[in-house]
Formats: sequence, structure tokens, C-alpha cells
Amino acid sequence: MDLGCGYGRHLRELLQWGHRAVGIDRSALLLGEAGIEAPGASLVRGDLRALPLHAGTMAAAFCFYSSMFLGSDEDAALALAEVARVLRPGGSLVLTTDNPLRLAARPEAHFEEDVPGLGHVVEESNFDAETGVDTVHKSLRTSAGEELRATFTIRYYAPEELARLAAVAGLTFLRTDEPLTESTPQLVALLEKTEA
Ligand SMILES: C[S@@+](CC[C@H](N)C(=O)[O-])C[C@H]1O[C@@H](n2cnc3c(N)ncnc32)[C@H](O)[C@@H]1O
Repeated sequence: MDLGCGYGRHLRELLQWGHRAVGIDRSALLLGEAGIEAPGASLVRGDLRALPLHAGTMAAAFCFYSSMFLGSDEDAALALAEVARVLRPGGSLVLTTDNPLRLAARPEAHFEEDVPGLGHVVEESNFDAETGVDTVHKSLRTSAGEELRATFTIRYYAPEELARLAAVAGLTFLRTDEPLTESTPQLVALLEKTEA
């Protein structure tokens, strides 16, 4: 189960390894893309805070690029509790986010690029180490001269914070793939459904 599967790039990999794959996302547009990227995956439109799946039916889940943490702490707690509900006992959750230690060391970031067929993308972000919230301003200038803007936030958790939040939700934080330092690019965490 891929939580916040987007356009399905990880579902495609999962299928190539011979697994059954279920992708969940709230965006109908991205699920449409996922149907092309990963034919054979089961795609479900739904909210990570209220998964449209039966309890105890999933062997494993993963969540790449912070998909569970694009809202408030309350949203994150609900999403973690939902994963715990639908996982079988002992089922695993692997999640990845940016590394909050790295962001705290360099809180301001600027990125821009020309995306073929789309336009010029500019991204400015500012991480508040006190709250763990990164505020991102993104703009796109299309080749037709149209300008689109959006601002969103992502909550990044240090491993200890994530462990506390997960424990309340019914998940045991087992480990990160490596100890985090300021230069580790990503936080990759393994959690497990807590045995009753
Ligand atoms: C940063 S993108 C990552 C997409 C994908 N995991 C990848 O790595 O390509 C976050 C994805 O999560 C989805 N998402 C965010 N919050 C969600 C929610 N509450 N319920 C369902 N999907 C959500 C978005 O629609 C988007 O596709």
C-alpha cells in the first residue's frame, strides 16, 4: 500500500518486484496518471486520515516524500492511526521525509528550473526549527506567460517526535536506516504495528 501514491512511480517499482500494489491518493488527476504509470495497481481515491480500507488487511505500507505530513500535527496523528488500523499485526510502515536536522542547519532554500512542456518553476522555502514546519512558496510561469502561485507547509518530525506520535497511534518506531546528521539527505524510518 502506497500512501499518497501521486502519479504512481513507486507503485510501478512495487509491481516490477512482483508484489500486489494498492495506491491511495486524494487527487483524481494524479490517480489517473498512476493508472498509466503503474497498470495493474489497485488505485483508491481517499484521504489518508480516513482510509477507505478494512482493518487488519494490509501486510505493509510505505509513504514517500512526506505525504502523511502535509497538514497539522492532528492530521499526522490521524494518518498514523489509520495506518495502524489497516495493517495486520506486525505489519510494517516505511516512511521517508526530508531530514529536519539538515533543514535546521540550512533553513532557507531557493530552487528554480525550466521544466519542458510546463514552464519555469521557482521554489522558496523557509524552515522553522522551533515548530518543525517548512513553509514553501512555489510559482510557475508557463510559456504562454501565465503565472500560478501556491504556498503550502510540510511538518518535519525528528525521530524522537515521530516515535512519540507513532506510539499514540499504535505503531512502534523501530529505527532509521542510518543515524541522522546535518548532512543526511533524508529521514527513512521503519515502524511496525504494535502487537496488542
Ligand atoms: C509530495 S507528493 C508525493 C507523491 C508520491 N509519494 C511520490 O513520491 O511521487 C504527496 C502526495 O500525497 C497526496 N496527499 C497529501 N495529503 C493527502 C491526504 N490527506 N490524503 C490523500 N492523499 C494525500 C497528494 O495528493 C500527493 O499526491
